[in-house]
Amino acid sequence: MPIDNDALTGAPARRKPKADVTEIGGHPLSPSTLMMGYGYDPMLSEGSLKPPVFLTSTFAFESAAAGKRHFEGITGKRPGGAEGLVYSRFNGPNQEILEARLGVWEKAEDALVFSSGMSAIATLLLAHVNMNDVIVHSGPLYAATETLIARILSRFGAAYVDFPAEASRADMDAILARAKELAAKQGGKVAMVYLESPANPTNALVDVQAMRAAVDAAFAEDVRPPIAIDNTFLGPLWSAPLQHGADIVLYSLTKYAGGHSDLVAGGVLGAKHWLGPIRMMRNTIGTICDPNTAWMLLRSLETVELRMSRAGENAAKVCAFLKQHPKVEGLGYLGFLKEGAQKDIFERHCTGAGSTFSLFIKGGEAESFRFLDALKIAKLAVSLGGTETLASHPAAMTHLSVPDERKKALGITDNLVRVSIGIENADDLIADFDQALAAV
Ligand SMILES: Cc1ncc(COP(=O)(O)O)c(C=O)c1O
Repeated sequence: MPIDNDALTGAPARRKPKADVTEIGGHPLSPSTLMMGYGYDPMLSEGSLKPPVFLTSTFAFESAAAGKRHFEGITGKRPGGAEGLVYSRFNGPNQEILEARLGVWEKAEDALVFSSGMSAIATLLLAHVNMNDVIVHSGPLYAATETLIARILSRFGAAYVDFPAEASRADMDAILARAKELAAKQGGKVAMVYLESPANPTNALVDVQAMRAAVDAAFAEDVRPPIAIDNTFLGPLWSAPLQHGADIVLYSLTKYAGGHSDLVAGGVLGAKHWLGPIRMMRNTIGTICDPNTAWMLLRSLETVELRMSRAGENAAKVCAFLKQHPKVEGLGYLGFLKEGAQKDIFERHCTGAGSTFSLFIKGGEAESFRFLDALKIAKLAVSLGGTETLASHPAAMTHLSVPDERKKALGITDNLVRVSIGIENADDLIADFDQALAAV
């Protein structure tokens, strides 16, 4: 006879939502359709078509036994996590609906949401990295991620080895061997392979499939480190790294997923096996996103495919215009990759070239600044993935603190302008770039 947990604890589990419709007559529904209602049953909220914002710091238990059972799940005493809502530092309805919807895009078994992209990354690393461990990472990484690994985790005895994003399989084999040697010397383990693709700001792509093969060859299954990857630039529409061998995918949801430059949030997707420790760490340090932000993200996800498609089309048109302009020295746009290893990675991993690219103006800082100051539609701001077009100067802004030698090695030059194309009219954007280049 099946055990009736409710009878054992004297507590009904949370009211069960109606099962989600994910296919019709064997036809699987696409993520863009599922974004309208997946994970939410209006009948549990007075028929409200959209989820209400649940502004509460804590949740009432049906009985003391139910409370105990929830805490057994929260603290890991019983596998499977919390069965109900407990306390808003751990979970909440808006966050759980958002997690269900985010997971749809990459067919992830589990998802977690955070108060920022950086709090997602920090919680992931704190959960999986111990003293004397080694992190293997591609470079460059988003500057704050590099700082976190190189300057903060190192204070707690975690080391790292890095390799250029463009590395070949042979390079990956060599770097993993080096990392294993270092870990053995320190008495720790290789705790994680951390990737960012495309890299910020160079747009260099990492071969995730090759890294997966390299990791599988280098480690026995029981000591295999997870491969985590920051998919902020191409996800969720143009790249799904879980399908290419990654174990954990990270997002700054502040960018394309949020998409309106009006919120800050982060996400982590992957198998329960890898996300369990991250959930426990999030419970402990309280890096979950708040219910208002989760609600706004639910609204954003309804249009994410529309927004990203339009931004991608606009970027292709703007880049075609810029490519032939006499004042443009070059473009770092994934749609213009020449035959070679990077193009091969692009074709195997990506379904679109994105809308964030590097524009190299003929000249240096002065010419780039003149261009930026002359823009009338594009806003002069850092960040990306919003409905509006943004432009910035990495060498003088996001990467100002990076030492000159490292900047040079990464190709962060004084004539590099970073552009994130939005969903405005493409011809208007071309007119704006044209007049700004004329001012150079
Ligand atoms: C690739 C990448 N990862 C992570 C982050 C950090 O995200 P957040 O600003 O939401 O903390 C950013 C922010 O620009 C980013 O570009």
